[in-house]
Amino acid sequence: MSIADDIETSRARLTQHLGDRRPAVAILLGSGWGAVAAQVADAVEVPYAELPAFPRLSVGGHSGLLRAGMIEGRQVLVLAGRKHAYETGEADGMKGAIRTLAACGVKLLVQTNAAGSCDEQMRPASLMLISDHLNLSQRSPLFGEPGDDRFVDLSDAYDAALRAQARAAAQAAGITLHEGVYAWFLGPQFETPAEIRMARLLGAQAVGMSTVPETILARHAGMKVMGLSLLTNMAAGMDRQALSHAHTLATAKAGEAQALQLMRAVLAAIEI
Ligand code: HPA
Repeated sequence: MSIADDIETSRARLTQHLGDRRPAVAILLGSGWGAVAAQVADAVEVPYAELPAFPRLSVGGHSGLLRAGMIEGRQVLVLAGRKHAYETGEADGMKGAIRTLAACGVKLLVQTNAAGSCDEQMRPASLMLISDHLNLSQRSPLFGEPGDDRFVDLSDAYDAALRAQARAAAQAAGITLHEGVYAWFLGPQFETPAEIRMARLLGAQAVGMSTVPETILARHAGMKVMGLSLLTNMAAGMDRQALSHAHTLATAKAGEAQALQLMRAVLAAIEI
């Protein structure tokens, strides 16, 4: 089976599960954002395992689950589970999934993640809207892609009009929402202090190990993208806290309620 066949099979199966639902928004959940999935009302659930274009996940015993339904009166498709480039060395682990979403009529991909803060003003457990990214790993999910449309314009990767709406929604809800550039390190090891100094010099406000490949895929597929980071720690060398996945998850837990509140406010406000 080619990837095109897998996408077509996935589109057909997902469309069948969706019935008369027509979600224009998909939300890809990262660490700290898991509570969003539980907010989906009137949900239909589709395990990734039923969708051949979706990744087979192994981490943490979770195999990946898609939930379609309503949040804040808006139809959404929530994806719990992503394949990271650090798992395989390949950046295209979400290619089939993102293309299936596009084939199902999704217009906006809201990406969420946990990230390290490179900005003294942005403290752990606070939230950042991604204004742009630095692909420091210089990997692409489009390596080997045929056709001229692989030369994707990323000059407005994180839609400016949607960012303005997100800022306004956060302010109206009394949520502090920072905004800045997200730098993608391949991982899975955390960065060194020297790498963080470099990233700061290059203009990064946050660092993380995800999101950028899916942004490239979504823009290639004609979708708009919004990115929201939950800052779980000061980046390497910026404070004395040792970095660990357990610490990331613990701080993510502390920021989860506000992340959820932000997501609800954003979904209620955006115009697609
Ligand atoms: N670096 C990379 N990825 C991360 C970090 C970090 O400091 N925190 C959470 N995800």
